[in-house]
Amino acid sequence: MPTRKKEFKKITTHVLQEMKRNGEKISMLTAYDYTMASIVDNAGIDVILVGDSASNVMAGHETTLPITLDQMIYHASSVIRATDRALVVVDLPFGSYQGNSKEALNSAIRIMKESGAHSVKLEGGREVRESVARILTAGIPVMGHLGLTPQSIYKFGTYTVRAREEEEADNLLADAHLLQEAGCFAIVLEKIPASLAEKVAKELTIPVIGIGAGGGVDGQVLVVHDMLGLTTEFSPRFLRRYANLFDTISGAVKNYITDVKAKDFPNTNEQY
Ligand code: KIV
Repeated sequence: MPTRKKEFKKITTHVLQEMKRNGEKISMLTAYDYTMASIVDNAGIDVILVGDSASNVMAGHETTLPITLDQMIYHASSVIRATDRALVVVDLPFGSYQGNSKEALNSAIRIMKESGAHSVKLEGGREVRESVARILTAGIPVMGHLGLTPQSIYKFGTYTVRAREEEEADNLLADAHLLQEAGCFAIVLEKIPASLAEKVAKELTIPVIGIGAGGGVDGQVLVVHDMLGLTTEFSPRFLRRYANLFDTISGAVKNYITDVKAKDFPNTNEQY
């Protein structure tokens, strides 16, 4: 069994800011369980996001809204046990921070205390400013998330590109500045025009990480199940598939079934 390499620089929020200053792009992927986090961390990813997309890809819900704080903490603690190098960011789930900064602080504290995570992420701009500030009072680093914010899907009505119109683009730019001033260490921009995302990244001093936001930002994030081709139905233009694990796993399972039915597995070397 290969031994894990331990000579590495642990990624912190300060390292990410240094990477932006040096023009080094930041790589970020989601993970929700021990095994996947271990693979992703050993491969050298900079940031692991325990995203509330777990609601979709792990639990099979249509939206991110149903996942609970307890479930996020369960996923986050599994990821933390596997992670040596990456910075681990955990999504505050829907209903755990909106409209009540005290509840936001309590939720963030629970995530940090019960999972051992390194930071939290929340969606929104001016409307969550107070929550960001209050969480920061406890010394918990906060990542922002603007553009397509899936927790507001029932307000938007669709998952299409956001901020194409000037007014929404201006508001997004203002919110990005506001989150930086409030103390966020980085911001995710989801599914917005590349030119707007590049402008935000140029104007802000904190790292801007994009998903469907073009190449002019400071880093990229994808949902690991999508980029590995474990999911097949979700195919937005921005998604590059680096593997087709759906077919690989399906083929392996079919071979196993065939071998069991044919009494070929286990053979005499595979028994005691
Ligand atoms: O939950 C998630 O996976 C996310 C990414 C899409 C950025 O928030």
